[in-house]
Amino acid sequence: MYYNFISIWLLAITATNAVENQARATKPNGKAGIGFPVQEGSAAPVSQFFTPDSTVSWWFNWHKNWNQGVMQADNVTIDAEFIPMLWSTEFLDDKASFQEGFTTLLGYNEPDLPAHVGVSIDLEPAEASDKWKEQVVKIRERYPNVKVASPVMASNKTWILDFMNLICPEYSAIDSWGNCQYKPDYLLTHLYSTDVTYFKNTLSDMHRDLGLPMIISEFACYHFNTDPHPEIEQVSTYMENTMNWLDQQEWIIKYAWFGAMIDSANLHNVDETNRLLDDKGALTDLGKQYMNGGKKV
Ligand SMILES: *[C@@H]1O[C@H](CO)[C@@H](O)[C@H](O)[C@H]1NC(C)=O
Ligand SMILES: *[C@@H]1O[C@H](CO)[C@@H](O)[C@H](O)[C@H]1NC(C)=O
Repeated sequence: MYYNFISIWLLAITATNAVENQARATKPNGKAGIGFPVQEGSAAPVSQFFTPDSTVSWWFNWHKNWNQGVMQADNVTIDAEFIPMLWSTEFLDDKASFQEGFTTLLGYNEPDLPAHVGVSIDLEPAEASDKWKEQVVKIRERYPNVKVASPVMASNKTWILDFMNLICPEYSAIDSWGNCQYKPDYLLTHLYSTDVTYFKNTLSDMHRDLGLPMIISEFACYHFNTDPHPEIEQVSTYMENTMNWLDQQEWIIKYAWFGAMIDSANLHNVDETNRLLDDKGALTDLGKQYMNGGKKV
């Protein structure tokens, strides 16, 4: 998905709000999160997902913080963990600050896609691995307790395998990359499909071949190009089955459905039937299902 922050970088407002960034340890499962793009402007709508009964526990916005200049905070309290992302290799040392109290950091967004798609920084594994080695060392020096997730694949497993072999040439997936100082704590991926069996097999194969616990930071019942308009009933069943499975796999750390958008443009062609929020910002039935551990409401 395409997130261009250039205009937003210029804003650097100091936060006056108290930051709610605690993990929801009391949640029955707690793996489910919300991707709510920084382009939506106000963070207030996302607070709807974090009611006391909701199983949703965390969120991200493809940026480093939410109430320190990149989104309007509107005095809203968001009772959830916020997870920052280094969308590109430029983010670590830019002017924006990390969300206070963050515990996990997501890596570069979809570097495996060619530039013309417009969604990514389009890096070859060699270039990405050089930047990564330099940056992951800095991150761990500055934030020793933060867990770092890898660059996030749109889909190319060869890319991430090449990347891992470049940063950890002495090791392999079989021993989870051993003591390699540059290895990510988690493997991060996206996966768009309408086929539950394909979804499970693809993630299981990726886990086996990359040897790391995983975060799925974007998934939906959607297959680009071939199956453009899944029915709402199909999407709902897909959500129930995939979430049930994700919750059972101990090597899946977190996941986030795509998506919680108000503005259709932020869906980036993913079918409207996958919406967790409607175009007015209210929860959809699917959004309520997502807050109910994926079980149909
Ligand atoms: C936020 O709270 C302050 C202090 O109570 C108030 O002055 C301000 O108008 C509020 N802003 C919004 C957007 O509600
Ligand atoms: C996947 O990534 C590798 C490594 O960068 C590249 O050589 C290959 O062309 C990519 N495959 C596709 C389908 O883009």
